[in-house]
Amino acid sequence: MAATRNSQLDDNFYQAADAFFPANQKIGLTFDDITLATLYSEILPRNTQLDTRLADSLQLNIPAISADMDTVTESRMAIAMALNGGLGLIHYNMPEREQLSQVSRVKYHVQGLIQDPIKIAPDQLIGDVLKLIEEKRFGFSTFPVVDEKGKLLGLLSGHVVKPRYAAKKVIEALTPRKQVHTITKKELGKDPIARADKFFTEHLGIHKLLVVDEDDNLHGLITMSDVERITLERKAQFKPARDAQFRLVCGAAVSATRNAFGELDRERILTHVGGLVERGVDVVAVSTAHGHSKGVGDTVKVLRDAFPKLPIIAGNVTSAAGVDYLADCGANAIKVGQGPGSICTTRIVAGVGIPQMTALYICSRAAAKKKVSILADGGITKSGDIVKALTLAQGVICGGIFAGCTEAPGDVVEISGKMYKHYRGMGSMAAMKAGSAARYGHEKADATRKVAAEGIEALKEVCGSVDRVLAQLIGGIQSGMGYLGAANLEQLRAKARYIRVSPAGQREAAPHDVVELKTGS
Ligand code: XMP
Repeated sequence: MAATRNSQLDDNFYQAADAFFPANQKIGLTFDDITLATLYSEILPRNTQLDTRLADSLQLNIPAISADMDTVTESRMAIAMALNGGLGLIHYNMPEREQLSQVSRVKYHVQGLIQDPIKIAPDQLIGDVLKLIEEKRFGFSTFPVVDEKGKLLGLLSGHVVKPRYAAKKVIEALTPRKQVHTITKKELGKDPIARADKFFTEHLGIHKLLVVDEDDNLHGLITMSDVERITLERKAQFKPARDAQFRLVCGAAVSATRNAFGELDRERILTHVGGLVERGVDVVAVSTAHGHSKGVGDTVKVLRDAFPKLPIIAGNVTSAAGVDYLADCGANAIKVGQGPGSICTTRIVAGVGIPQMTALYICSRAAAKKKVSILADGGITKSGDIVKALTLAQGVICGGIFAGCTEAPGDVVEISGKMYKHYRGMGSMAAMKAGSAARYGHEKADATRKVAAEGIEALKEVCGSVDRVLAQLIGGIQSGMGYLGAANLEQLRAKARYIRVSPAGQREAAPHDVVELKTGS
């Protein structure tokens, strides 16, 4: 009984979405403007389920998507996201054929197999190898040695990659081909990890297994430490997100491309998406800054007609009419967010955009009527923001949170002893010149004329692997669900109750009046 006592008093203060947002309709609210009230709970955070369905044939095991931005998602990021149960949207600031091969890399990724290992040539010096390790900051020192055609010659073991041997040639130091353990791709079979695991158990002291074809050309490398990590991960709560053929899921962004006459280039869009579908893409995202527009709607319609079963994400919008429009055109999931992103300047430059929680509320109610899902896109800086977003949306899209990860494109730069990666808005001048101008309603050539950038170029502090970042975020989401007594995301959406937070309340919510020694992560 104690579980429900005083609930009327609570309800007067902590309101469900359909009471709270209409009561605050004169003001745009974002994540930090509100907080969620706790509810009686019998749910332990670790037992909460995070799976989410974005379309009939697109289910994720965690509701997190990495943004289709050229400093966030290419194949490495998409692989890491899918392995963790989420999804990566490969950006389109690259030639179309390059995007196709990035999608292939994700779809044909064999977990645990390093498909393109760093190779060494036989006439290099050990000193060159040492220099390479230092320059590239490799955390390993064993390398396959191949000839100029890719044929395996041997393995350069870490034991001989030492300064005392710097003047020696690799050919003198390598373990010869005959003594190197190999396996063919065919022999690896359907479950390469189980096969490799068996191999390492049977071959005492061997930690590397090279994959070759029938002509002895090198095709990959499997390490015992990776196999052990993956075997452990298989017991993890959140399984990789896979398609019906057990391949990792992958998404790709497409733009509403126009021809020289300014008309939608239907043929080019269809050829591009046709290629993506052939490669096994699971979802395409028609990504623009203004989704409630004829060009985006027509693109979605063209794709829906040509590919009736293909899940389509489209956006971005912040109005109910925008959701209705894209849903009627055939989109399954709609991106919500105009100007909340950490690198966005749309609200400053164009004076347009709606704070994210209000936009999500309005869009979620329109989406429910149309039976489509919505994705909260941009402005997320902490796991608590994700919990709040998931009270209204079926998933979140994050750029900045993943841009400092090892798997994001781009090199690490060191500034005053700190490590950073570049992160830029797709509406920044540099990104628009690289291809994303159409997303902001401009021609590529416009980027040198009278065009205002709607994004900035920035740096993100390096933050380790996607696994690590997602572990923190998922832990936070599960905590939030535990506080609300929500066993799954549907219950979270049904149970959430909100209250506004005063500026003093916002200060109270963060660490205060202490000298911080260690952050939470
Ligand atoms: P976060 O906050 O996760 O935001 O870094 C990522 C999202 O921001 C959007 N985006 C932009 N918005 N100008 C904008 O107004 C830009 O240059 C820009 N680039 C990306 C996009 O929705 C992304 O997912």
